[in-house]
Amino acid sequence: MGLPTFAAQFSNLPSMKFFIDTANLDQIREAQALGILDGVTTNPSLMAKEGIAGDDAVKAHYKAICEIVDGDVSAEVISTDFEGMVREGEALAALHENIVVKVPMIPEGIKAISHFTENGIRTNCTLIFSPGQALIAAKAGASYVSPFIGRLDDISSDGMDLIEDIRNIFDNYDFGTEILAASVRGPMHVIECAKLGADVMTGPLSAIEGLMKHPLTDIGLAKFLADHAKSNG
Ligand code: E4P
Repeated sequence: MGLPTFAAQFSNLPSMKFFIDTANLDQIREAQALGILDGVTTNPSLMAKEGIAGDDAVKAHYKAICEIVDGDVSAEVISTDFEGMVREGEALAALHENIVVKVPMIPEGIKAISHFTENGIRTNCTLIFSPGQALIAAKAGASYVSPFIGRLDDISSDGMDLIEDIRNIFDNYDFGTEILAASVRGPMHVIECAKLGADVMTGPLSAIEGLMKHPLTDIGLAKFLADHAKSNG
């Protein structure tokens, strides 16, 4: 027998969390049915894509998401000033215990995250594109930082370098902030994030489904079924 794996030596290691990055209820249900879903992230663009507009409709939609998934649901504030973010964030957090208030990485956002931290409201600091932004969000007590991999890749930067840098920094301390790899575009992003030890990944349903696909699996299954049919008439 070989040596125990690194992970096996630390059996209290957490599992990588899988979030789905959508406001589409059918896709959330589909991912939930796989039994692997740990949470949901949304943003104003994703809400708009589903045609969700107006304060009441937005709140009802977040409640509907919380009824499908028993896990953290990121709900983003629209305000960009401290008072507005606090007002919106407190109202969002009051909707359900699983709501995590998503706050943009701007100075007013950092003030708001510090305020939410002091008041026991969990936060996700979004639009992270540098290790320094992740560091200051962690200092403010953010529950999650969301580095955007795909959008960095889009401008010929390596999004995975950012995940690696943040992982290295966070491993030196005990911030309690989780790295939520965001703007994941496909299964290879998920695999690279897992190799680097991102705590969470959030991606579209297609990225999750892509993890399950392999042509040899399809060919192998077709052969098993054909052989079974042959010998069973
Ligand atoms: C993160 O929480 C964002 O909602 C999201 O991952 C952005 O992804 P995109 O760059 O594919 O829009």
